[in-house]
Amino acid sequence: MEIKILMVCLGNICRSPLAEGILKSKLDSNKYIVESCGTSNYHIGGKPDKRSIDIAKKYGIDINDQRAAQFNINDFKTYDFIYVMDNSNYRDIIKLADNDHDKNKVILILEELYPNKQLDVPDPYYDNEQGFENVFKMLNKACDNIVIKLEQLS
Ligand code: 4NP
Repeated sequence: MEIKILMVCLGNICRSPLAEGILKSKLDSNKYIVESCGTSNYHIGGKPDKRSIDIAKKYGIDINDQRAAQFNINDFKTYDFIYVMDNSNYRDIIKLADNDHDKNKVILILEELYPNKQLDVPDPYYDNEQGFENVFKMLNKACDNIVIKLEQLS
């Protein structure tokens, strides 16, 4: 059975599509499934933000075919790890969990890089290209640590 990982942000057009593309690029697709969604319904069916598409492309990752989806409570059953981008996403997802097993699947992604700091991946939506570059770099480093953690499980 594959290990399934879900990346979550607010709109599913800026941060979580990057997190999905980056982590997928580092893992064997026969062993791992990586997907993303948003807590909101704002952009359902939409493509990633052009600035996320462009920064991913700059680093050799194609996220063009991703389409935004909204988190659904069934996702607690589907996924083994649910990585959220910020504390607001964390609260929104935890609210929907009705047991500790599901709550324990939810992890702030920057905890993998800076444990016990509860840091946010800043929302770059109202920022410029530099903001997207910063987000890419922090997600890339966090995903390197996620790969190490996942490989220790198998
Ligand atoms: P994301 O960024 O959560 O990283 O996809 C956002 C994208 C759109 C909006 C907010 C955040 N919005 O309000 O439309």
